Amino acid sequence: MTATQHVSRVVTNPLYRGHRMKLGVMAFNCSHGSTITTAEGAWELHWGDTKKIAKMADSAGLDVLLPVGRWRGYGGPTNFNNSTYESFTWASALAAMTDQIAVFATCHVPLVHPIMAAKMATTVDHVSGGRFCLNVVCGWFKDEFEMFGAEWREHDVRYEYATEWVELMRRVWSEEKEFDYSGRFFQSKRAWSQPKPIQKPFPPVMNAGGSEAGQHFAATVADMNFVILRNQDFDGGKTQIDKLKSMARAVGREVQVWIHVYVVVRDTEEEARRYLNYYVREKGDYDAVNNLLTIFGMQSKTLDPKVLDEFRFHFIAGHGGYPLVGTPAQVVDQLEMLTRMGVDGCLISWVNYVDELKQWIDEVNPLLEQAGLRQRYTPD
Ligand SMILES: Cc1cc2nc3c(=O)[nH]c(=O)nc-3n(C[C@H](O)[C@H](O)[C@H](O)COP(=O)(O)O)c2cc1C
Repeated sequence: MTATQHVSRVVTNPLYRGHRMKLGVMAFNCSHGSTITTAEGAWELHWGDTKKIAKMADSAGLDVLLPVGRWRGYGGPTNFNNSTYESFTWASALAAMTDQIAVFATCHVPLVHPIMAAKMATTVDHVSGGRFCLNVVCGWFKDEFEMFGAEWREHDVRYEYATEWVELMRRVWSEEKEFDYSGRFFQSKRAWSQPKPIQKPFPPVMNAGGSEAGQHFAATVADMNFVILRNQDFDGGKTQIDKLKSMARAVGREVQVWIHVYVVVRDTEEEARRYLNYYVREKGDYDAVNNLLTIFGMQSKTLDPKVLDEFRFHFIAGHGGYPLVGTPAQVVDQLEMLTRMGVDGCLISWVNYVDELKQWIDEVNPLLEQAGLRQRYTPD
């Protein structure tokens, strides 16, 4: 029997590798992934293809697998995201069948006790050999909270709660001796957990808060901030990212900034745009997207119809992510621009995950290596 080695996460976790642009696959633990469409080949959640994607991404040297934390669908013909795998158990299984890729769970902090989360995270960290990461979300979909009978706090209080939650989880991860914890939201007597995670000081934490309170939380507590670029032109995006990184530096911390991208790669730009228009304009599920935007608080009462139409387009195309649409070479140029903007990593969704991930690996990855955005992956 060998003792568990506890090592710096910089050594074990692909988040800290030197690629100029890190890459991952997201949302394939939910039916339809990030695409609100009835187009042929859209993601129907099942385990066979889930395994296929995880293994393909792992053996191609991609860096991250990220699940969404979702408990209910949004109605409409797709009932978008209605069918979901729970993310810690999903992460544990994928960790066991992969060799090098980082595996996330996404945790709604008001629905899981931090000591329970610390324990589940540690288990996946051991299964993966130090490749686990945690996406902490505070919740915004009230129906989910009502289903759990969980308290729905004021917006900014949710981040105060999350700050205490992460503090207690990290203390349980790192302190060898039992301790009493007395906070505003948590009281714990003789808090304790063994074993400790493999990663030192602890597994990375990500957050996707966009509000001032969310940005403050990401800068002061998280290791990664997962953002929607409010402004997709270079200067606007750079200003947003510089602000987030300097908020963290002001308190002596470094955060990585990641974005969600939706990808359509075809032999010509025209073909790519034609397919995008097809799956959004002709096959988009407008009932589901309208429900989603209403829950987000974006309705025709508050937004200009043209702006609302653009939001609808982006949400159907890829849950409001950044579009990477065109030939392989055009997509690589876009990624190069995003690195100059300050983006550390992109999490990708497609309509057809299996076929389009394969296409990415065959056609885009080699160009990324040639462009110096990524190093070639060679398994040990
Ligand atoms: C790229 C991205 C991914 C997100 N993933 C989830 C998720 O899996 N589950 C969830 O409930 N919320 C998710 N959110 C919502 C955020 O956690 C957050 O509630 C939202 O961005 C609003 O920010 P705010 O809370 O600062 O107002 C995500 C947001 C973004 C931008």
